[in-house]
Amino acid sequence: MKSNGMLRPVMLLLAGVAVALALALLGRALWLDPHGGGGRAASVTGTALVGGPFSLTDQNGRRVTDADFSGKLMLIYFGYTFCPDVCPTELLDMSQAIDALGKDGDQVQPVFITVDPERDTQAAMKNFLVNFHPRMLGLTGTAEEVQAAAKAYRVYYAKARGAERDYLVDHTSIVYLMDRQGKYLTHFNANTRGDAMAAAIGKFL
Ligand code: NI
Repeated sequence: MKSNGMLRPVMLLLAGVAVALALALLGRALWLDPHGGGGRAASVTGTALVGGPFSLTDQNGRRVTDADFSGKLMLIYFGYTFCPDVCPTELLDMSQAIDALGKDGDQVQPVFITVDPERDTQAAMKNFLVNFHPRMLGLTGTAEEVQAAAKAYRVYYAKARGAERDYLVDHTSIVYLMDRQGKYLTHFNANTRGDAMAAAIGKFL
């Protein structure tokens, strides 16, 4: 047992390396939107478990829960209004997809949920969303409410480095399509343009 003094640091180091490796693999398994090098897509298992309850506030100050969309398909994306590139592109694709569906598009509710509630106030969401589909709902809330929604959708997000108010947010960048009961149907990654999205959604209508 005398050797413990030498072994412990080695064991701790090995454990540390194992944890670092596990985290690196986990990071690769998630879709990260690094906002520097563009979105990266990878296959993930367990997407069928995506979805669940949320309770947030829309850009008009109305309280909204997942139950409000019962009977409609939900096209849902998590991001933030300060996002320099990926989020606006995704929301544009979603808007184009709804338009491309024509009258059938009415059966689909586009939803944008912020992962940056600190800066994405109701007013900020309202200003930002004028650029996208008129029926798109932008949801924000307290840090806890946003965290709960992101957890239900298995969305990862974390503040990245940047100036005090100018920070970027790393986040999972996937558009989810949920059925009329709020259950997962399919998802789209950053490479799916509006037309392709509309064609895929059309199969579920
Ligand atoms: Ni983004």
